[in-house]
Amino acid sequence: MSDYKSIYRRSLEDPESFWGEAAAALHWDQPWEQVLDHDAKPVPRWFVGGQLNTCYNAVDRHVENGRGDQAAIIYDSPITGQQQKISYRELQDRVARFAGVLKRHGVDYGDRVIIYLPMIPEAAVAMLACARIGAIHSVVFGGFAAAELATRIDDAKPKVIVSASCGIEPGRVVEYKPLLDEAIELASHKVETCIIKARPQAEAILIDGRDHDWDAETGLAGDAACVSVRATDPLYILYTSGTTGQPKGVVRDNGGHAVAMHYSMKAIYNIDAGDVYWAASDVGWVVGHSYIVYAPLLKGCTTVLYEGKPVGTPDPGAFWRVISEHGVKVLFTAPTAFRAIKKEDPDGEYLKPYNLSCMESLFLAGERCDPDTLFWAREKLGKPVIDHWWQTETGWAIAADPMGIEPLPVKPGSPTVAMPGYDVRILDEQHRELPPGEMGDICIKLPLPPSCLPTLWNAEQRFVDAYLSKHPGYYLTGDAGYKDEDDYLWIMSRTDDVINVAGHRLSTGQMEEVLAGHADIAECAVIGVADDLKGQLPLGFLVLKAGVERDHGELIGELVLRVREQIGPVAAFKSAVVVQRLPKTRSGKILRGTMACIADGREWKMPATIDDPAILDEIREALQSLGYAAD
Ligand code: COA
Ligand code: AMP
Repeated sequence: MSDYKSIYRRSLEDPESFWGEAAAALHWDQPWEQVLDHDAKPVPRWFVGGQLNTCYNAVDRHVENGRGDQAAIIYDSPITGQQQKISYRELQDRVARFAGVLKRHGVDYGDRVIIYLPMIPEAAVAMLACARIGAIHSVVFGGFAAAELATRIDDAKPKVIVSASCGIEPGRVVEYKPLLDEAIELASHKVETCIIKARPQAEAILIDGRDHDWDAETGLAGDAACVSVRATDPLYILYTSGTTGQPKGVVRDNGGHAVAMHYSMKAIYNIDAGDVYWAASDVGWVVGHSYIVYAPLLKGCTTVLYEGKPVGTPDPGAFWRVISEHGVKVLFTAPTAFRAIKKEDPDGEYLKPYNLSCMESLFLAGERCDPDTLFWAREKLGKPVIDHWWQTETGWAIAADPMGIEPLPVKPGSPTVAMPGYDVRILDEQHRELPPGEMGDICIKLPLPPSCLPTLWNAEQRFVDAYLSKHPGYYLTGDAGYKDEDDYLWIMSRTDDVINVAGHRLSTGQMEEVLAGHADIAECAVIGVADDLKGQLPLGFLVLKAGVERDHGELIGELVLRVREQIGPVAAFKSAVVVQRLPKTRSGKILRGTMACIADGREWKMPATIDDPAILDEIREALQSLGYAAD
């Protein structure tokens, strides 16, 4: 039996000894009583009774073990022209001091802290500082609007918000402070303390008594020590899109998360302590939490924190510069980044000046990796290109090519096989397992492996309803697909209203709620249409209220702005079309899936339950007027 197969089998047959061994690589203040509590509700829990500190394991432990002088973080910011190397010792000092700042402002074990920061080292410092004192962080991505931040404030009820004067996007400075002020104003939970990192690109006007300057505060506080927390205590809450406008607060626990993060670095990425690892993402996404901050630091690596884009900062050679300059062994990013590079530099001219011999492999995730992008990257880099599939809820790959266990042959279009701990099954509507090649709901048989969510913040019933109810005994991933004869997984589509735009997970349901709030809109639908660069783009269908006679272009302009202001620029909602009616089933359900198939020119079947098939002709015409639905 191959190494992968025997390890995988063992992880499912004897999860206690498998994950108990993996956990032994970390420092525990108190050993667990049970590796896995099978009886815990609503899902089994890991390392019950154990106590540890995630920050200690990610930072202090390495200083104590002789890595104090090694770079923990390389901050590389082509957008500001800055670079900084932060050693583990310096990181320990900065984290301990900022933890002291949080304590001085009353943050304690179990309190929440919202972190709304751009890609600067302070983001990692603030996250680790929370972990150090047992507080729970919730990082909010900078591309969200004030209203989205307000929703998270009301759900997480933070004691403190940590932010900065601005983020920087190509061509514009995004002032965070006005967004933060507006969010606090909109939220019903009143935040008493904000700590703001001043950046030279924008000045933040501080509100007396509430807002404090990051640098001044670190001068006033003392250092805070690591506190021991339960393995099952939450480390963070990360909000992600669901089917409605209310985002889901995915909870991550301390123990299982630390173990899985550490384990994944070798097993999946073939990374050892001391290696340089770069996840080109943002700390606001799960990829940033897991693979910019926690996993590489838990492993004792050097992590690259990159404030820039794949193109335009300054050119499509930006990634190659970073890899060669810092000796990056593994790069992890979303396929869309490579599509952006390929579009600007199809022949790879910008690669030529750089020596990438340090690089071992490229990992892609966040959206389906189209084979063309994979072939291009593989040809240009001459390195293995690995697609892997996971989601915010799991925190690490459900399926991948386990490069540190045994590299398996790549099948372009498939993220390879299930990772240790994930018992992946394809089920039909009657909960029966489907044979190879047949498409169904991709599910994970309980127990979920360490790091996967134990619940949703303040919404246990929603957790049960959304993930555990459809197929009893299984976790529903929300993706549909199949396994082939070799147990390779093929991820084909979402089964809900989630779309993936430039590797960002967005809810079309949420966009519909925003559009429907406009006074002229009677009904609407938003679907994801295929896009060469971003994978998918949202497209709106609008039915106007009777009697509304307006210039459609002007109305659409208002709606685009409305989505930008209420969800944020990251929604990338830029086009919509006015139609007379929406296609529906006889019971009134909008046929979004059918519309998306027509838009992309994919095969589709006339739904048996459709109310009026003629509406689909109108939809096709509307799509064709926008350049979609080619015959
Ligand atoms: N703060 C404020 N605004 C942000 C932002 C942030 N952190 N991140 C993105 N935005 C804005 C962008 O400026 C853009 O605004 P615009 O409509 O005014 O142009 C909008 O949100 C949409 O952003 P995006 O979808 O990222 O498109 P883009 O055209 O700016 O860049 C790529 C396209 C492919 C270069 C970019 O998406 C990218 O680098 N992707 C890398 C992959 C990645 O990070 N994936 C995350 C999960 S792994
Ligand atoms: P997020 O929670 O933002 O990481 O988004 C998770 C979702 O993105 C998954 O449920 C999939 O729908 C999609 N996704 C992520 N990675 C892949 C991949 N490698 N292949 C196909 N879809 C992916």
